[in-house]
Amino acid sequence: MSGTHKNHLDIEFVRSCFPAFEEPLAAKTAFFENAGGSYVAGPVLEKLMHFYRVNKVQPYGECEILRVAGEQMDAGRQTMADLLGVASNNITLGASTTQNFNTMAYACSAIVNKHSEVIVTEQDHEANIGAWERLCRRSGAKLVIWPADPVTGELSLESFEQLLNKNTAIVCMTHSSNIVGTINPVAEVISLARPLGCRIIVDGVSFAPHQWPDIPQLQPDAYCFSTYKTYATHLGVMYTATDFAQSLDPQCHYFNEGYPQKRLDGAGPDHAAIAALDGLGDYFNASYHHHFGSTDNSDNSLYEKTQSIAALMHAHESELCAQLLSGIKDLPLRIIGRNRMEGREANIALTSETHTSQALSKALAAKDIAAGHGHFYALRLLEKAGIKDTEDGVLRISFSHYNNARDVERVLEALAAIH
Ligand SMILES: Cc1ncc(COP(=O)(O)O)c(C=O)c1O
Repeated sequence: MSGTHKNHLDIEFVRSCFPAFEEPLAAKTAFFENAGGSYVAGPVLEKLMHFYRVNKVQPYGECEILRVAGEQMDAGRQTMADLLGVASNNITLGASTTQNFNTMAYACSAIVNKHSEVIVTEQDHEANIGAWERLCRRSGAKLVIWPADPVTGELSLESFEQLLNKNTAIVCMTHSSNIVGTINPVAEVISLARPLGCRIIVDGVSFAPHQWPDIPQLQPDAYCFSTYKTYATHLGVMYTATDFAQSLDPQCHYFNEGYPQKRLDGAGPDHAAIAALDGLGDYFNASYHHHFGSTDNSDNSLYEKTQSIAALMHAHESELCAQLLSGIKDLPLRIIGRNRMEGREANIALTSETHTSQALSKALAAKDIAAGHGHFYALRLLEKAGIKDTEDGVLRISFSHYNNARDVERVLEALAAIH
């Protein structure tokens, strides 16, 4: 079968790579809670189990069992760097993105003062607002909010340009919001802000599971995402450009400051979770060779292969999400964000005119469809969008590439039945 699926994702192959589907619970569930955390690819699970079974020791040392544990962790870190097309020294592995943003904001004390301005967006997850708000409180810098449109939830470049000035030290923005789903103009922000000496820090948590980020092309100063949403273990990955990292206040033990990959590592996360990242490389590699053939471009780097296979994944998800959007267009629902797929991710947040979001979530759950409700830590955005009961919040239907057309039909049937 390999090499026969260049133009579309082979969904049967994909699902066969996720052991969860062999379990009764996942097998009966149409899973649309992917923005909360995805299922784990088989090769990741294998590496995780191997580390815990064989090498669960303090890694790095003279004895073989210690040395081999360290090698597996190095392989996990290197694979993540290869998947992203960046150097392993530019990667910090933290317990989560929330932790990485907090660490980054502390490190940025070195580059802000009471005259500085820090721009955050109203669209962001609180992880990428609160850390900067606290930095501003500590340093006396001014926090500037890039407002979201109250109707569409979107960010406009025009309003960004009005906020940007010579005092802007840092812009923190989401690549795509976990509620609105629109892909934000990060490249344009970089080209406007960088000439002013400003640093651009991107939250890719909601983007990376849908379209693997292209960091060499985008060239942000920092880029963060969470691997428990990209089919792997529970970690936060933070890319930091070398010159930016060097300008920051190290957040590690003083004797580790000479190790670039440790400078922003405030607390080393689970060793096995790091080692298991190597399995994500195996998954992308196997998917690439299944779809594009084992001889076709087999010399391509893991970064190039991942970009190719991620494009197929994205196209598959987008097609399914378009099926959802078209199927709900006549129901009394408000979609927060675009009601079409152009320029957006397959992550739909909506409210109903006739039911609470909790009632929708319960109705779906009764049919073994997983889709949560609430504010998903984007509380400020929901308030701006005029959603009165933010605890009830929105119903969020977030896709992964392993969803299939039947999953979408089940959601459509359930939403039509309740309305
Ligand atoms: C857009 C976005 N940013 C940041 C975060 C925080 O990530 P973590 O859970 O790894 O701290 C999340 C988590 O859901 C998110 O959706």
